[in-house]
Formats: sequence, structure tokens, C-alpha cells
Amino acid sequence: MNDGMAPSEVTPLLTAINAAAGSEPFELAIILGSGLGALADQVETAAVLAYADYDCFPPLAVAGHAGRLVVGRLDDLRVLVFAGRFHLYQGLTALQAGLPVRIAHRLGCRRLLLTNAAGGIDPELVPGHFLFIEDHLNLLGDNPLRGLRENTFLDLSTLYARRFWPELSAFAVRAGIPLRSGVLAAVPGPSYETPAEVRALRLLGAAAVGMSTVSEAILGRYLGMEVAGLSFIANRAAGLAGGPLSHEEVLAAARDGGMGLAELIRELCRLWQRTGPDC
Ligand code: HPA
Repeated sequence: MNDGMAPSEVTPLLTAINAAAGSEPFELAIILGSGLGALADQVETAAVLAYADYDCFPPLAVAGHAGRLVVGRLDDLRVLVFAGRFHLYQGLTALQAGLPVRIAHRLGCRRLLLTNAAGGIDPELVPGHFLFIEDHLNLLGDNPLRGLRENTFLDLSTLYARRFWPELSAFAVRAGIPLRSGVLAAVPGPSYETPAEVRALRLLGAAAVGMSTVSEAILGRYLGMEVAGLSFIANRAAGLAGGPLSHEEVLAAARDGGMGLAELIRELCRLWQRTGPDC
């Protein structure tokens, strides 16, 4: 499958990963959203690679994105944890921003877990809560498959791994982690939405809104991965909380959510290990 990436771009990175962790396929790639880095500390680490040391990575524009790739094991799965992601608001295309997904695919991953910080639109989704992404609205104005040549008319009617919902939600209740399931809308940013846009998104069925994730999900599915997604609700979306939104506030909230997210991710790993990838 053509992933739109020249081999020479990523060869030094792939060589470093294989030298540190061996060349067997990786089993799960996790992309951590803004401020949500706590999980990376739980990986039994074979290597930590700084994005800045590899030319294939575009510069990271935003505070809260560490820019490191943690390679190792998590609950017996060989994992790649991308602590730092790329966004369209940096001026990248959806395909360019999907670089971590393409790297994971090159390393054999067939499972992709996407996480992000998002603004809650559903009245039940308040800061500190989590959303299990059951579907998305792609309002980014781009699609990572644009310009690729093979099989790009991809069916997305079952994009997200909803099969985990019954067990994951039961786990969340036991663990006291507020988790709901719903639709994530993605907008390009970097400005936050207007209150009118948030009202429109609610009418469209969005439970939460963020600036990432959905293009990575599309690319992951295109590359044959099973995709699951979790949003951490860092704030009420614009116009719903009364006050102005700030990136610093989003980051501060996300840091508090890192541990709950790590627990949900580890439960998902256990569920995935029990069943294997479904694609
Ligand atoms: N809107 C869009 N993206 C976000 C938000 C939001 O309210 N919070 C965190 N990321």
C-alpha cells in the first residue's frame, strides 16, 4: 500500500527503532494528545527518540507536545508511543500530519489508538470526563487520502473499534472514570470555535470537538489498522462555560487527565491482547 512517503525520509528513524527494539512487527501505536503524556512513563522502555533528532518529523509548533517517540512494551504488547502529534494548523496537509501513523504502519502495527484533548459539547461531557470515539465528523477541509493513488474510496462506516465499548465502559464504571461514547468533530483550528459554531456542531450530532485525530484515523484504516479513539474533555466548548478558552487551561486540565487516560489505555490494551486486531 502506498503511504505517500519516500523510503529515504524515514530510514534513519526505522533503523534506530529496530536497533533498539528488534525488528519484529510492533503491535500497537498510540498517539498522545496535548498534555496527555503520562502513559509514556508506564512503558517498559527500549528507546526514547526525540523527534528533533530525525529530519522526517516536521517541527512541532505547540507547547504541550513533547516530541518524543517511546518504543517498548506495554502490558505485553510491543508499542510505539508518539508523545507529540502534528496538526493541520501548523500548515501541514492531513497526509503530512499523519506521519506517526505512516511510521507505525511501516513498523508492522495493525492497531492504532488515538487520543486527544477536546472541548465538550454534549452537556454531560464536562472537564475531566472522557469520550470513547464512536464516529467522527471530518470538518478539517482535508483528507489524508487526497492525492494517493490506490483504493482511496475507503469505506468508513465502521471506522472506530466500537466492539470494546461494553467492556471498556464497565471498566470505567468500576474505576470511577467518567466515560461516555459519542461523535468527535474535528476542525482545523488553531482558533477555537465561535459559540455559533459550537451550537451548529451540536445540531450535527457532535459530542466533542478537537483539532486532530480524525485524519489519523482515516489514514490508519487505509493502511489496514484497527483504530480506537479516546478524547479527554479539557474544557466545555466555546460559549458553553461562560469564560474565554485558553491553550494553557486546556494543557493544565489535560495534565490532570493523564492518569485516567493511562488507565483506560491499559484496559484497552488488555482487551486488544485478548482478541487480536479485527482487520
Ligand atoms: N475546541 C477545539 N479543540 C480543542 C478544544 C476545543 O474546545 N479543547 C481542546 N482542544
